[in-house]
Parts: sequence; structure tokens; C-alpha cells
Amino acid sequence: MATYFTEPSRTFGEYLLVPGYSSSECIPSAVSLKTPLVKYRKGQEDCPLSMNIPMVSAIMQSVSNDTMAIALAKEGGVSFIYGSQSVEDEAAMVARVKSYKKGFIVSDSNVRPDATLADILALKEKTGHSTVAVTDDGTANGKLLGIVASRDYRISRMSTDLPVSEFMTPFEKLVVADEDTTLKEANDIIWDNKINSLPLIDKNQHLKCMVFRKDYDSHKENVNELLDKNKSYIVGAGINTRDYAERVPALVEAGADVLCIDSSEGFSEWQSRTISWIRAKYGDSVKVGAGNVVDREGFRFLAQAGADFVKIGIGGGSICITRETKGIGRGQATAVIEVAKARDEYFKETGVYVPICSDGGIVHDYHITLALAMGADFVMLGRYFSRFDESPTNKLRINGTYVKEYWGEGSNRARNWQRYDLGGAGKLSFEEGVDSYVPYAGALKDGVYVTLSKVRSTMCNCGALTIPELQEKARLTVVSSTSIVEGGSHDVILKNKATSVTE
Ligand code: IMP
Repeated sequence: MATYFTEPSRTFGEYLLVPGYSSSECIPSAVSLKTPLVKYRKGQEDCPLSMNIPMVSAIMQSVSNDTMAIALAKEGGVSFIYGSQSVEDEAAMVARVKSYKKGFIVSDSNVRPDATLADILALKEKTGHSTVAVTDDGTANGKLLGIVASRDYRISRMSTDLPVSEFMTPFEKLVVADEDTTLKEANDIIWDNKINSLPLIDKNQHLKCMVFRKDYDSHKENVNELLDKNKSYIVGAGINTRDYAERVPALVEAGADVLCIDSSEGFSEWQSRTISWIRAKYGDSVKVGAGNVVDREGFRFLAQAGADFVKIGIGGGSICITRETKGIGRGQATAVIEVAKARDEYFKETGVYVPICSDGGIVHDYHITLALAMGADFVMLGRYFSRFDESPTNKLRINGTYVKEYWGEGSNRARNWQRYDLGGAGKLSFEEGVDSYVPYAGALKDGVYVTLSKVRSTMCNCGALTIPELQEKARLTVVSSTSIVEGGSHDVILKNKATSVTE
């Protein structure tokens, strides 16, 4: 006979936190959001890889590329670069994150000396950047011949056919520095010479990168940034249960700090085979998360298989139609609560703490606090991050509103069949995700700041200064549908909805 769960499947919107006592020391600026990313012997050793904020970005084409990874690592979280691309392309993205040096920008605006003023104007329109490097072959690492900045031309006075070589600041007049220059030295040169940009070149005069005066302040701002021992940003990468023998070595070689098996259903032999293969080849030196599961059995299976963290969630993602198409899944809150209990039970038995990640279904910022209070060590977000400038998708204007594109890995657009495959179909037989728009939300840095300010504030209301303390002290209540209505503004006419007001 089938098994019936006695508890209904609940989601975050059905819960609220009940405030607890907060002392005068319990203030948002004193809250630490540090959290473990991979398993460790809690109480006996430090976690080998932790994050400064409990947020990771989803393993999705429309969310996590190298630009997203750098932006999120600057804030203290980790991106998992999407695996639904060729091994070479994914490894190249990882390598770009690892070789990114804060403040050292590889020039994205480059022309040959025979380009014209019209080309410069078109490039400026496309990239939004006003400093253009002139190199012999028009590439970012060609021989540097000059620089064109806004002060080098006047559109009203010059023909747009004029070749760049006639109005650029030529190499001989540029202040340049050696490729080994440190960021501090570069900034000193910029200040001493009153220049706006400094090209760094190798001994053959080939351009390596640029340092810009305008970036100076932002270098000092990222107090939470997540760096490895070589001061490169930490980055994760998605893998699948099919081509791991080829993909994992390439990602490890490229410098990925942590991997994660990306699959809609993690309670499967395919996952244990993948983890076993990694352990046989690399031992514990390669960190790999697994998932997704929604119950105690699923968690224990993956923990025993050797997963470094376990991801929770089936059917709750904003672009997900798995529950509608296949009738499987579980309310995200119920799943997190049960898996958190299983994690604690496993820790008591073995002394090994396997972090858990609540993946998908975060709609409001407070859902993050709820997920943490229910026991999640961190959350994975797709829709949330897809809205920012740093996501890889197009920004469009629809009916006067700015939006960004966001599509599921199980949609026809992504065609990530490896994520859904249960035995060699080699294609998507039906869709489990949709292609959509999300409201554009500006820069990631600003969005994450507001979100985490709310998380910190709620934690203080619960008397907690750390995530483990929140998990211990949190008091949660299920809310009725009428009290949900009470929770929003109600029985007033909102001013921005009123068309006219007569006094
Ligand atoms: P969101 O943050 O609610 O948008 O959910 C993102 C999560 O949805 C991802 O991290 C995946 O676990 C999951 N997901 C991504 N693509 C699909 C899909 O096409 N169908 C179902 N779930 C998906």
C-alpha cells in the first residue's frame, strides 16, 4: 500500500516568525551571516569552505555566468556556473572568474588604428564605456598603439570618417605601467599623474589590462568578498550525471572551488555513481554538492554517498512546471524542515555536518530568513538573481517596464536534458520549465544589500546574531489564509493607486 505523509506539504508563505527577546547588543550591524558550504567535523575542525552570506546563484543559463559569479563573490556568496553548455565553454567561464583580478579590467572596447570615429561612437553606444584601447590587431591583448578617450574628439568639429590613428593619444604620450604592477601602485600612478585610466602592458608592449580611476572607491567597498588563498574569487560549477568523466577534470583544471550535481531528482543511483567517481579520482580534495531531494531518505542517501552538501527542492522554482507535468514534488518549507532534522540526526550519529541548501521558491526576501530559521544553511536563487544587471540575459522594455529574460533549464529554450534524464533518452521528451520575463532590478550589489538588511533585522527580532543561533531560537507559526491578508497593507487606498485626490 502507498505511504501517506500525515503532514500537508507547506510552503514559505504559510509561515511567519514569532519575535523573541532581543538584547541591546542584538543589532543588525553585529549580525554575522557566515555559513558553511561543504561538510566538516563540526566542533573538531573549521569548515574548509564557508561563505560570508547564505546565498548561491542557481545553476542556470539565464542566471550564472562568469559576470554573475564575480559580482556575487564580491558580496560574499557563490555562483554555480551553468553546466548546460560545452565542457570547454563552462571551463572557460570558471577560468575567467579565477583569473579576474579586482580592479584589473580586461579591456572590452578595442579597435585597430584604421577604425574611424564612427566606429568609436558605435562601440561606446554598445559597451557604455568611453575609454577605447587602440591595438595593432584590435584585440584586448594586441600591441598597444594608443588610447581614445572622450577628450580626444569633438563630434561637432570632426568628420566621423577620421581614422583613429589621427586623433588617439599615441603610445609615446601615454602613462603606462608594467603588467606586474599591484593595484595599490596602479592607483598611486593614476593619482600622481592625474589620469583616468592606466594601461598595464607586458615587455612586448602588449596590453594586458586596464585600471580605472572611477573604480577606486569600489575596490575598498567589498568587505564581505569571498576569496581563495590566492586572492581569486571563489566560484562553483554545475555538473551532470552523464559526462562527469570529461567535465569534472576540465572544471577542476580551470580552478572551480566547488561542484554541484545539477539534477531535478537527486535520490538516484546516477548521483551516487557520479560522487563515487569523483572520490575515486580526487579523494576529498574536490568538493561536490548533490540533489535535489525533499525528504529524510533522500538526504541520507546523498550524505552516505559522500555529498559535500545537499540541495533541497522539487517543483517549487518560479519557472518550474514539474509538479503540473509530473505530479511530483513537495512544499518547500516542509521539505526543508524534514531534511534539516535528518541533517542534525546524521551529525549526531557521525560527527559530520553536511550543510543543506534550500533551492528555489524564494519569492519574498523574508522567505530567505524563514528557510534559514527552518534549518537551511544557505539558499539557492534563480529568479532573484536573474533580475540584476549581472545576469547573462537581455534587458528589454515591455509596455514601458524594464524586464529581463529568465528561462528554466527544463524549458525548450535551455534543453538541459541531462538535468532530467533518467536513463539515456538523450533529449527532452517534454518541458518541465517555462521561458519568462522578470522585473529588472538594477545592480546586484544594491539588491543584495537591501535583502540582507531585512534578513539581519529579522534575525535581531528573533534575538539571533548568527545563523545557527537563529536556527536554535526561531519560533515559527503556520498562518491562516485570513491572517495572510492581514499581513499586507489592507483597508486603505494606496496613494500610488489613487488616480485623483479631492480635499
Ligand atoms: P527560483 O529561484 O524560484 O527561480 O528557482 C530556481 C531553481 O529552480 C533552480 O535552482 C533549479 O533547482 C530549479 N529549476 C531550474 N530550471 C528549472 C526548470 O526548467 N524546471 C524546474 N525547475 C527548474
